[in-house]
Amino acid sequence: MKHEVIVSAPGKLMILGEHAVVYGRPCLVTAISQRIKIRAVRLKQPVVKIDAPDVNLLGYEKRVAELGKGAVNKGAKFIETAAANFFEKYPVAGGAKLETVSDFFPKFGLGSSSSVIVCAIKSLSDLFDVGLDSREIFDLSYRTILDIQGKGSGFDVAAAVYGGTLYFVSGGKIIEPIAIETLPLIVGYSGVKADTVTLIEQVAQKAKIYPRIINGVYDQIAAIVENGKIALKNENWDALGDLMNFNQGYLESLGVGTKKLSDMVWAAIDAGARGAKISGAGGGDCIVALAGGTRAAVESAIEAAGGEIIKVEMNAPGVKVEQCV
Ligand code: MEV
Repeated sequence: MKHEVIVSAPGKLMILGEHAVVYGRPCLVTAISQRIKIRAVRLKQPVVKIDAPDVNLLGYEKRVAELGKGAVNKGAKFIETAAANFFEKYPVAGGAKLETVSDFFPKFGLGSSSSVIVCAIKSLSDLFDVGLDSREIFDLSYRTILDIQGKGSGFDVAAAVYGGTLYFVSGGKIIEPIAIETLPLIVGYSGVKADTVTLIEQVAQKAKIYPRIINGVYDQIAAIVENGKIALKNENWDALGDLMNFNQGYLESLGVGTKKLSDMVWAAIDAGARGAKISGAGGGDCIVALAGGTRAAVESAIEAAGGEIIKVEMNAPGVKVEQCV
């Protein structure tokens, strides 16, 4: 019987395909080196205790039978809902104390919610010897995301579980690893926190008014992703850059661009990036640029446009056990 397990899971960066992936199309996503860790300690009593210092939450406690019911603390909601789903599906005896340590801030929109959920499910699975495989961790974590935000493709959950670089279709219909050696992307944060659900809603409203046009845009984004998959496999950076620029145009047409994001994208292109685009829901958060031979110049240009460069490595490993006692 295990007493303590420490697991970690990566954040994510969308390469191509956001928004369209919510509606049955594919996307390309890579896991990033920034990780969230959960230390899970077994408790005799059927309670879940949560400490999440990065969101100022200490000493939160609920009985297992009450998880997900009544008032759910904002800082605890991801772990509490994940634990509620775990204990409902696997009614093991006892409880657990879960403590988070984060390498990165939720504000960047780089997938901290999905990686904390995946860490919670994986740590509980290992602590109680349930032995969930990757697909089961994905399914339970994705269900948790839908319970909390009602919408989302699950691409961020897949990145946290499987790691690497993935070709992903909504809801995990396809989760295909793409073997790559390098991915010379630069990430720039706009300084503006965006709300994914609001942006998905906003695009959905547009799709109600202009269904033919918006569905056509989704189909074009899907074609960009299919081409992008080949470009990534062949390390054809010129092609990937073109495809990122096409994708940026379509994201603008969906109405999720902002002046700040455009300024950063254009600054990157003017400084020699092969391609640049919004990464994620838009409205704020991050852009991603594909470095030409000019990484330093592109980074300085993004900073000059008001962005903050976030140093991340791509293609990071998925959820893993760091320590087990
Ligand atoms: C948000 O990072 C990306 C979206 O496609 C939402 C999702 O796929 O869950 C807008």
